[in-house]
Amino acid sequence: MFCTMQRYFSKEPPKKEDKKEPPPPKPKMKRFKIYRFNPEGNQNVKKHYMQEYTVNLNECGPMVLDALEKIKSEHDCTLTFRRSCREGICGSCGMNINGVNSLACITKIKTKGKTKIYPLPHMYVIKDLVVDFTRFLDQHRRIRPYLIKNEDKFDEGQEYFLQSIKDREKLDGHIECILCACCSTSCPEYWWHGHSNPPKDFLGPAALLNAYRYIIDSRDSGTASRLDQLRNYYSVYRCHQINNCTNCCPKKLKPGKAIAHLRLFLAGLKKKPKPEMGGTIKSDPEKGVRGNDCTTKKSKC
Ligand code: SF4
Ligand code: SF4
Ligand code: FES
Repeated sequence: MFCTMQRYFSKEPPKKEDKKEPPPPKPKMKRFKIYRFNPEGNQNVKKHYMQEYTVNLNECGPMVLDALEKIKSEHDCTLTFRRSCREGICGSCGMNINGVNSLACITKIKTKGKTKIYPLPHMYVIKDLVVDFTRFLDQHRRIRPYLIKNEDKFDEGQEYFLQSIKDREKLDGHIECILCACCSTSCPEYWWHGHSNPPKDFLGPAALLNAYRYIIDSRDSGTASRLDQLRNYYSVYRCHQINNCTNCCPKKLKPGKAIAHLRLFLAGLKKKPKPEMGGTIKSDPEKGVRGNDCTTKKSKC
């Protein structure tokens, strides 16, 4: 009691109990071997080579993109790669990691061994891990990735096209494509025929998955012209159903299966069913999309 009172009135701060700080964790050093390409290289400056970096995984996030960001900010600011969302939704960070095309932002760093990173295969490299998407995006543009409507009795930008829940569900597994090009650049047929001059080029699994997505969309009226466009020796039939594309899709989509269904459409063995719901609905900011003023008798809303 006396002791406590003495401490209370004395000016000395109370004694702290000696707490031992935990020892710092052992550094987890990990080696990354990364493809480098310098377009300005010449006889004196190397044009392409592999460069190694060592990163302490204790000071780095768990994904390959985290390691690349750390290398760029702390080791070598000249390392070039694309990224944007770091959530697996923008499709920018596609690259070949340990032999598999994947998105760096959702690929976990393997703690064992060395991680080798290359740009997406069989694409023209612009710098380091950045490849040229011009041909890939042009092929996507050629499949007309938008709804084609035969009728012109609607106010563009003022109406919504109606679709039943069941018809909408048919698009699941196709509309999630983020155009990362992991599938097309893992396809041997795309390597050989993807870069030929159009129309003598294989469109590749990404463009064909998207073509199929519009062909089966109940709101689209361009099925016949879309199929006519694909009915040739190169666009679809170069696919040999090896399914490399499906195996590597980071969104777990099945472009190989979509191509198989496209072939059935082209052979006339599969037909597009009639839409369960048609017509349009006025866009009304006050009522919202589900307002009651449907503009055609066909609609059942
Ligand atoms: S199908 Fe998959 S791998 Fe191919 S572009 Fe789309 S998201 Fe990427
Ligand atoms: S299934 Fe067809 S598109 Fe997919 S990787 Fe194989 S050949 Fe290419
Ligand atoms: S950064 Fe957007 S998908 Fe990886």
